[in-house]
Amino acid sequence: MKPLRIALTKGRLEESTVNLFEQIGIDCSAVRNKGRKLILPVGDGLEVVLAKAADVITYVEHGVCDLGVVGKDTIMEKGGSFYEILDLGFGKCRFALAGPVGSDFFSGYSARTIASKYPHVAHSYFESKAMDIRVIKIEGSVELAPLLGLSDAIVDIVETGTTLKENGLAVIETICDVSARLIVNAASMKLRKTEIEALTDRMERSVKLSSVKEERVC
Ligand code: PRP
Repeated sequence: MKPLRIALTKGRLEESTVNLFEQIGIDCSAVRNKGRKLILPVGDGLEVVLAKAADVITYVEHGVCDLGVVGKDTIMEKGGSFYEILDLGFGKCRFALAGPVGSDFFSGYSARTIASKYPHVAHSYFESKAMDIRVIKIEGSVELAPLLGLSDAIVDIVETGTTLKENGLAVIETICDVSARLIVNAASMKLRKTEIEALTDRMERSVKLSSVKEERVC
């Protein structure tokens, strides 16, 4: 039978997923020594595909990958048709509205301008507040937009808060928490249920164990 194929978001989530796989006894030496290769065998009957976050969703939705590991931020922005079956407990950060320190974002009546890498998330957030805003899409380092006078504030992910702090910005309001999620193609969930459940059960047990350890440390 062909291997189960899992798409991983390249970078930090890839590293955390590989750590998780190794904790449950899956040999990831091919990924550790990957060079520029993008499709790699791991363990027995599993194949890793390395992709950008939004593409992980595209590959899983179209069924060319059975599973995927992607941030909830990308899921909220892009949406799509798949099952989200497990919160992996790593890649933790939050969506926040942030602006220049000391600015009073919610005062006054004029429509505000928001810069964001996540225009859909920004629109939904302000829709829930019945606030009229203009959203400008930025591809990276969105903190620049209010500093350059392009926007009044930003909607972005905040992890440590260092980038905001070092650029004279601060969180105005937290929108929601975000972390890495395991997603599954709908057809694979039916056709390869036993294998997928066996893998996800092992992953879930390890995630629970790590969160217990984290609680003890805190
Ligand atoms: C993210 C985010 C912030 C930063 C927050 O950017 O967009 O800029 O991390 O992290 P912090 O709270 O720990 O400072 P990323 O590193 O993904 O780079 P990008 O802005 O170039 O997309």
